[in-house]
Amino acid sequence: MTPDEFVVTPYEVKGRIDYVRLRELFGTQELTPELLARFHHITGGDLPPLLTRGVYYSHRDLGLLLDQFTKGSPFFLYSGRGPSGPLHTSHLVSFDLCRWLQKTLGVRMFIQITDDEKFWARSGLTREETAFWGMENLYDILALGFDPKRTHVFFDSKSIAALYPLAIRVARKIPYSTVKAVFGFEPSTNIGLVFYTALQTVPCFWPSWAEGRSVPCLIPCGIDQDPHFRVTRDIAEGLGYPKPALLHSQMLPGLLGETAMSTTGDREDNALFLNDPPKTVERKVRQAFTGGRATVEEQRRLGATPEVCSVWALWRTRFARSETEFQEVTRDCRSGALLCGECKGKVLERVHEFYRDHAVAREKVKDWAESTIVTTAPKPL
Ligand code: TRP
Repeated sequence: MTPDEFVVTPYEVKGRIDYVRLRELFGTQELTPELLARFHHITGGDLPPLLTRGVYYSHRDLGLLLDQFTKGSPFFLYSGRGPSGPLHTSHLVSFDLCRWLQKTLGVRMFIQITDDEKFWARSGLTREETAFWGMENLYDILALGFDPKRTHVFFDSKSIAALYPLAIRVARKIPYSTVKAVFGFEPSTNIGLVFYTALQTVPCFWPSWAEGRSVPCLIPCGIDQDPHFRVTRDIAEGLGYPKPALLHSQMLPGLLGETAMSTTGDREDNALFLNDPPKTVERKVRQAFTGGRATVEEQRRLGATPEVCSVWALWRTRFARSETEFQEVTRDCRSGALLCGECKGKVLERVHEFYRDHAVAREKVKDWAESTIVTTAPKPL
């Protein structure tokens, strides 16, 4: 692979990703300042940093969704997680935005936990493991602050009776040649994975099916998940359901300077896992790849490069307390006033604080997490 080649599919992310090019390849739209302004107008408050700092950068049909919303037709949110192990901080990007939208607009949230998909896709995991991580991940997601009354979970192996009547219809619309082309499946790919995309589509249509009317859907997700929803959008009309709208985020860089935290695999130190003890968090941040210079003298003189720095990515996506703090860190990094060691110490304070608060919130959701899991279909057929 040459330096400017890259691959992004739901099952593989590699190379240095050119995000503008990726948007063109996928045929998605740019998330423009005009759209953000409309969002701002509708939500009435300050937009979250994930929107204003360019982490979300692409969409499908967002304008249409906002038109419908202003005409009195609210959407529901849908996102998900394939439980292949503990969550790391970059997995929170989609759920953070969903939590904010739910809180601001009072909309419903559907979360899919795909313990089946990760068993099919990752040969190293047992069924017990994907089911175990499914519940562990769900606690972490709900602990971000979702409203128990408006949040519904499809935990695939537990929710299959609720999903299956619709999955039957969806699956009939998807030819094998489509999934083969879209996901790059090989003859050796197991047939679980071949069927799986039907299950990821079902939540997009589920409320419309349940209520017998068109309910708009918005999916905040990493752009790597877009191929699934291209399939969804292609078959939506044929089934009489609205096409879901999407908001795509970039992949966050790993701590070791890799393209994405999500490509961590067994390289433990590339990501901050939510179950890492404080000492591990400290070690990982201390050794993280930065945009700093070879010597202190050079850095003072020439400044550092935040855009390539994995620690700056932490500030940018979650850990800066305010826009002012974020701007200060960025400016002082660039000017050479802030050295990497000091910057890491500062961000560590924020990270430790988040982990402490999160642990408390996580214990609390355990009382009601199970009750959010949908287990019955709204209709027999
Ligand atoms: N396939 C996703 C993963 O591997 C999980 C998922 C299911 C998902 N439904 C989704 C992600 C909807 C985003 C939006 O993690």
